[in-house]
Amino acid sequence: MAKGATVWFTGLPSSGKSTIAHRVEKILREKGRKVEVFDGDVIRKNLCSDLGFSKEDRDTNIKRIAFVCKLMTRNDVVAIAAAISPYRETRDYARNEIGKDFLEVYVRAPLSVCKERDVKGMYKKALNGEIKGFTGVDDPYEEPLNPELILHTDKESIEDSVQRVINELENRGYLQ
Ligand code: ADX
Repeated sequence: MAKGATVWFTGLPSSGKSTIAHRVEKILREKGRKVEVFDGDVIRKNLCSDLGFSKEDRDTNIKRIAFVCKLMTRNDVVAIAAAISPYRETRDYARNEIGKDFLEVYVRAPLSVCKERDVKGMYKKALNGEIKGFTGVDDPYEEPLNPELILHTDKESIEDSVQRVINELENRGYLQ
């Protein structure tokens, strides 16, 4: 039986994390894998509905997601996290918790492109001052230094990015 893994997507708001995560999920399911997506937007409505966006709350959010991903991974599920996860140290915490079956995927697009996409209209609100502490505007995003994969979503198509994730999982033996 194929072993479990955690695929951890990190990146700025509107970089493409959720879109890519859900397409990867669909392909893995078609390939017969058990898979679960933990999307920050969804998790924050249930498991983390008590949390805001201070550094402390973001860290708690990521640690809870990491905990659930760890349980999934050890039960041979592919857990897919899609959260901004802006702090390097907290992503490294997730990596240490989960161990060798952890793939950090940096969903990278320049801030200007993310602002232009503004999928949920939140950059606009942040730039207007309606939201304070928005990642990329007046809150930090620390880029990964050594991710397993970098997806350049401003240069490659969504399909290409998705395929690169699938290839990476295949090459590492998670689809056998
Ligand atoms: S994280 O920083 O804790 O990893 P997470 O991915 O769960 O963030 O949630 C991000 C989502 O929350 C964004 O897609 C956006 O819709 C919403 N959001 C609301 N306020 C903020 C904020 N201040 N900064 C970033 N995202 C925010």
